[in-house]
Amino acid sequence: MTANAELIERLPKAEIHIHIEGSLEPDMMFSMARRNGITLPFNSVEDVKKAYNFNNLQDFLDLYYQGMSVLRTEKDFYDLTRAYLERVLAENVRHTEIFFDPQGHLARGIGFETCLNGLSRAIEDCEREYGISSSLIMCFLRHLDEADAEKTLDMALAHKNRIIGVGLDSSELGHPPEKFKRVFRRARDEGFLLVAHAGEEGPPDYVWQALDVLGVDRIDHGNRALEDAALVKRLAADKMALTVCPLSNLRLCGISDMADHPIQRMLDAGLMATVNSDDPAYFGGYMNENYSTLDKALGLSSDEITRLARNGFEAAFLDVDAKQAALEEFDSTIK
Ligand code: ADE
Ligand code: ZN
Repeated sequence: MTANAELIERLPKAEIHIHIEGSLEPDMMFSMARRNGITLPFNSVEDVKKAYNFNNLQDFLDLYYQGMSVLRTEKDFYDLTRAYLERVLAENVRHTEIFFDPQGHLARGIGFETCLNGLSRAIEDCEREYGISSSLIMCFLRHLDEADAEKTLDMALAHKNRIIGVGLDSSELGHPPEKFKRVFRRARDEGFLLVAHAGEEGPPDYVWQALDVLGVDRIDHGNRALEDAALVKRLAADKMALTVCPLSNLRLCGISDMADHPIQRMLDAGLMATVNSDDPAYFGGYMNENYSTLDKALGLSSDEITRLARNGFEAAFLDVDAKQAALEEFDSTIK
């Protein structure tokens, strides 16, 4: 094992961009389909894996929404979340901030509480049993209208103690952040932290809108911000975190080769880049695989790997004391 591979495994990590529905592995998809009496348009796990060949974000989203159709009961959401947390715990992930898409479930007749209770019970159990901490971020689907997002926010208000923030995901092109200006304003007024996918496929202007119209606390992806020097300056000045997802960028054809990945350029430009898996069951790897694939392609220095991992805790929505404790623990492992 190389020194960097050992470092990647050993470092404590925080994952702050993971869609829980995107951690649904094909074998779990099949077992849930069976127990819920759902017929999938695939004959085998191998068949599903063969379909994971995407040309862009929309190609992936079509399969992602189809895959999540097997999630029906609180136990399904519990099992999904527990499996993800146990998996990343083995990679030395100590803190996670988990996105979920209630509108993808409400539309199929699954109750908001069915989903939320399953997720939060798994989070509580794993924190108690393993010491891994997690928070939930509820995402609005941007291909739907703002009125639908408003109704979803209404449902979340009774559960503010279990949801730390709101986000914006799904089809980016044609759905700029400004479409959600009012619902994000209300979410902020209600005390939620704010994130939005921006600059994954969309232009730098969408990143400006996420900052200036929505007032987000972090940008999810942000890759295309590098096309705009004034935007890079702004992101650096604000110490705005970017939750970058290397294997996702490769599999969704944002880049054609990992050697072209912009994360090193982000660090060089003084940006607070972090490494995350996005939808690990669909993109071929969890946290450590994202780091090691980057490392092999870009030849990262040990300082760069350490910086990226430390940024994950810096950018996390932890309270002041928990963040300080996490950073102290991090620093003690690299001495
Ligand atoms: N939903 C799940 N994964 C996503 C991604 N990478 N971009 C936008 N929406 C998503
Ligand atoms: Zn994402």
